[in-house]
Amino acid sequence: MIKFLRQKMAFFITGIALVGLLFACQDLQTSESQTQATPTTTPINTSIPVTTTQVPAAYPDRQLSASPAQLPQLPYAYDGLEKAIDAETMKLHHDRHHATYVENLNQALEKHPELRNRSVELMLRDLNAVPEDIRESVRNNGGGHLNHTIFWQIMSPNGGGQPTGVIAEQINQTFGSFDAFKKQFNEAGGDRFGSGWVWLVRSPQGQLQIVNTPNQDNPISDGSYPIMGNDVWEHAYYLRYQNRRADYLNNWWNVVNWSEINRRFQVTSQQQS
Ligand SMILES: [Fe+2]
Repeated sequence: MIKFLRQKMAFFITGIALVGLLFACQDLQTSESQTQATPTTTPINTSIPVTTTQVPAAYPDRQLSASPAQLPQLPYAYDGLEKAIDAETMKLHHDRHHATYVENLNQALEKHPELRNRSVELMLRDLNAVPEDIRESVRNNGGGHLNHTIFWQIMSPNGGGQPTGVIAEQINQTFGSFDAFKKQFNEAGGDRFGSGWVWLVRSPQGQLQIVNTPNQDNPISDGSYPIMGNDVWEHAYYLRYQNRRADYLNNWWNVVNWSEINRRFQVTSQQQS
């Protein structure tokens, strides 16, 4: 009789344990599925809202990531642009100068990791939303990263010659001729005192304009979209051209990549239409 009662009790306890285990597993599954289903949308610093506003990008199909920023590969060999720029300059320019902008941008963002979910373009477009203690660094190094990323793409070993496609028509309409456009562009590049860039941009009103910017400022900070730009810092040309910036500006047209420039123009046309 006692043996019978012990067996019954053992079955009863085992049954309770199994039922308990079953419920525990269900709780665990529910908890996991709830965790997976709940999006982590809360920004770390709620004073800087995450925005999904579309802005023109460095690449036609995506914006530059800051999580972390990465040095893009050159799309050609160092000596690929010898028609205008020597290999040593290209190596130093890409491997040292551009790499340093990327490194410094990442260092600045370490102080405010909540910004890493923004693209470089978004930060530059609204610099006032960047915390003051790193604003200048983001402006200079984020700008340096964006500017050079565009620069490498809008040059090609097979570049040069007359513009093609839609951009050729737009240049003729706006500036009268390609030669007139080149002259105005080169003058704006020569006029930039010290270091900076000369750009062909699409203004917020949709017009083509030639502008120059100091240091590593990008026209995106003024609401314009950079279609093409030339780097007039001395580091871009000094080894071959020394102080002859005008010669560099003239020769640079031999490597301009019109197909990429057309792609950039078409992207901004679609985004602004
Ligand atoms: Fe540069």
